[in-house]
Amino acid sequence: MKETMYLRASNPEDIEIAAKILKEGGLVGIPTETVYGLAANALDGEASAHIFAAKGRPADNPLIVHICDVDQLAPLVQEVPESAMKLAEHFWPGPLTMILPKADCIPDSVSAGLETVAIRYPSHPAAQAVIAACGFPLAAPSANLSGRPSPTTAEHVMHDLGGRIDAVLDGGPCAVGVESTVITLATNPPRLLRPGGITLEQLRSVLGEIVLDPAVLHPLASGAKASSPGMKYKHYAPKANVILLDGPRDWYLNYVNTHQEDAGALCFTEDLAELTVPCVAYGTETESAKQAHELFEALRELDDLGVSTIYARCPDQSGVGLAVYNRLIRAAGFEVRKV
Ligand code: TXA
Ligand code: MG
Repeated sequence: MKETMYLRASNPEDIEIAAKILKEGGLVGIPTETVYGLAANALDGEASAHIFAAKGRPADNPLIVHICDVDQLAPLVQEVPESAMKLAEHFWPGPLTMILPKADCIPDSVSAGLETVAIRYPSHPAAQAVIAACGFPLAAPSANLSGRPSPTTAEHVMHDLGGRIDAVLDGGPCAVGVESTVITLATNPPRLLRPGGITLEQLRSVLGEIVLDPAVLHPLASGAKASSPGMKYKHYAPKANVILLDGPRDWYLNYVNTHQEDAGALCFTEDLAELTVPCVAYGTETESAKQAHELFEALRELDDLGVSTIYARCPDQSGVGLAVYNRLIRAAGFEVRKV
């Protein structure tokens, strides 16, 4: 156990302290617009390797490299294709991660031995300030214990990783609430590996054809190789068993109210008054962005209520809703009940 320093992003001295820790090879939880990240020097293989131990992350799951200027992309990859420039123009800085064949400077611990690397330019000012103060890119997965819901506040990071990392930099609650969209440009056509704040519709409007990787919506067939190693693992899961209920509202309400034992509900705001179990809302039925923003916090709150089963109301799957649905079916280990 080590003492985890609590730093404030609004304090310029604290940004310098965070950068100093990172320069010395340490680990700092940093805010981004999506979720908090657990950062280390991306060009230092040993520093980045410590991330895996702190999170309990499987060694074959590669890390995203964060930059604070588009010019930092080229030295990290083999070449910058036109598609990457177009996406950067439209969506960087922001919640979009691009995968490209990697340059030799990327350590094996960051790419987990793959020939590609994932790069993101976050829009959160504190993330940018820390990367700039370091002068090197930062490898950062979500700052949760492996498998748990991603952290959207500094408090969540402390809860999961306090005593295991050097510091956490508090930059307030994350605006988006789910992790970045991940697209690989190492295949032709490009392939969406993880939906997020930048939608498939937005990406298609810039690049044209994009394949939706089957692992976004379905469990990986046994023996199949994951396009993204992270897709192999159960993810985003609270301690309680999550079951996704896909059907009309009346059926959902009736199902939950007649399956009460030790259960809680992850519901829409309009359902709160009609449920007779402990419940937490994650937005109204039509508010996909709000659902994304509230999802992980709501799952953590349901855990705090001590329920053993969480009945989640199935979200709409268009726009940002695809990201919400993707996180929920993974939290549920693909356990979906339909009418
Ligand atoms: O919003 C985000 O992306 C956050 C913040 C901190 O930036 N980070 C994040 O990192 O969500 P992480 O490690 O929790 O998720 C990264 C995902 C994993 O599923 C991983 O397998 C995939 O991206 N990934 C990373 N590098 C890859 C590569 N070279 N090829 C395929 N998938 C890759
Ligand atoms: Mg993660």
